[in-house]
Amino acid sequence: MSILKVSQMGHPVLRRAADPVNPDAIPTDAFQRFARDMRETMVAYQGAGLAAPQVHVANRVLVYRDTSDEEAARDIVTLVNPEIEPAGEEMEAGWEGCLSIPGIMGLVPRHVRILVRGLDREGEELEYEAADFEARVIQHEVDHLDGILYMDRMDDLRALTFRTEYEMFWAEAEEEPDE
Ligand code: NI
Repeated sequence: MSILKVSQMGHPVLRRAADPVNPDAIPTDAFQRFARDMRETMVAYQGAGLAAPQVHVANRVLVYRDTSDEEAARDIVTLVNPEIEPAGEEMEAGWEGCLSIPGIMGLVPRHVRILVRGLDREGEELEYEAADFEARVIQHEVDHLDGILYMDRMDDLRALTFRTEYEMFWAEAEEEPDE
């Protein structure tokens, strides 16, 4: 396994729509190795989520874990060709960071509940509902597959802050900043 190089904001791969993965490719060694490397890279960078364009690969693959829950955080979910839609009207603003935009955080409105469809790491179809932090991470990572960065979603760019200033002026005990 290897830790992959993370693309940084400004690299064009973060601003293009990623291509769907051919489901037949999922069982191949090459794809399985890539998905493992993505999981290892996310953990090495202490992220909650990572999308393939963040490792310079324009394919619709993401990995994430729910770091708001210690037990759930051990399970890393791999999603291939994910599709999401809101499950309800409710929106909530929450703090997000991004491994491609190190040291900076922003307050981003997201749907509280979403319906997720896609393929898992073995190519099996998945369909489930996600809420709160998990839903936020998935929305952030699916945005990466569409060339969208979290500041594009912010209502007010004055809530863009360095991580050190976030800790000094904005932090709340219940927030989970790393995505
Ligand atoms: Ni990100």
